[in-house]
Amino acid sequence: MRVGVLTGGGDCPGLNAVIRGIVRKGTQEYGYDFVGFRDGWRGPLEGRSVRLDIPAVRGILPRGGTILGSSRTNPFKEQDGVRRIKETLAKNEVEALVAIGGEDTLGVAARLFTEHGIPCVGVPKTIDNDLSATDYTFGFDTAVGVATEAIDRLHTTAESHMRVLVVEVMGRHAGWIALHSGLAGGANVILIPEQRFDVDQVCRWIESRFKASYAPIVVVAEGAMPKDGELVLKDGSTDSFGHVRLSGVGEWLAKEIEGRTGKEARTTVLGHTQRGGTPSAFDRWLATRFGLHAIDAVRDADYGTMVALRGTDIVRVPLSEATAKLKTVDPALYAEVGVFFG
Ligand code: F6P
Repeated sequence: MRVGVLTGGGDCPGLNAVIRGIVRKGTQEYGYDFVGFRDGWRGPLEGRSVRLDIPAVRGILPRGGTILGSSRTNPFKEQDGVRRIKETLAKNEVEALVAIGGEDTLGVAARLFTEHGIPCVGVPKTIDNDLSATDYTFGFDTAVGVATEAIDRLHTTAESHMRVLVVEVMGRHAGWIALHSGLAGGANVILIPEQRFDVDQVCRWIESRFKASYAPIVVVAEGAMPKDGELVLKDGSTDSFGHVRLSGVGEWLAKEIEGRTGKEARTTVLGHTQRGGTPSAFDRWLATRFGLHAIDAVRDADYGTMVALRGTDIVRVPLSEATAKLKTVDPALYAEVGVFFG
């Protein structure tokens, strides 16, 4: 049996570990062979593939990014997209497809399976950790680690100059990276998209921190927004999803803080450093297990499913669940960390 593999959407540390897990188990235990499609759904659309065998996956476990390349191409938005994908699969004699991706990539896999009978298995990935069907996505732990290290470093420079340091982290519409890295890094204020913030309250926390003779660190998620009427964000440019770009809140907030408190403030936008580089040990562990279980789903012909982490178990859930609901930060959890603010 020949299995196709592709990685779609924003890259994420651990993608190569999934590919390696799939290829190693599939080859050694089930005698399958593999075709890797280049650049997400663009690969099967354009008939671009590479050979995926054990030598091809040697040494890739600690490497960030994806050896297959990625894109946010959606075949349902392309002329004859589904027909072209079917043709490529037939030409390559691919009998099953493992799609590793986030909401968009898995949404395509779900539709290809339910509407067109293409045998797909999904593996969830995103540094944002916002897929409700799984307890954690790989990439998240690495991103939190990068952000935490940055916050640790920013404490000492903030203290030296007695400045406010605003750190803007990724996460799109969810505050998971901000919450986890802010707590781990001992931030004095954490702002998340799930709850609009009050700039005056932020300034009060900052002032109380200065009163205690410490310099404040504010972690703000890129999707966080102040209360109504306080801000018109951005220049209206869009990200590769076509969403209005959210980043910029950190810069805006630092200016507001300076204006309202008279304290000097600086902004650090961590951006894609959170997605690049080697995956953490946890992400290698999770991604590898996802790969091993995805190829088991193929062996069982359990198509239309996605692997997911529940507790410490890897389970299978319908692919449609992957995209059903965004997992956001619960207000009670956010309230819990509020004890450290100020
Ligand atoms: O979904 C992952 C993510 O890194 C988000 O945190 C961020 O908003 C977005 O992707 C950035 O997308 P791009 O790499 O297309 O700019």
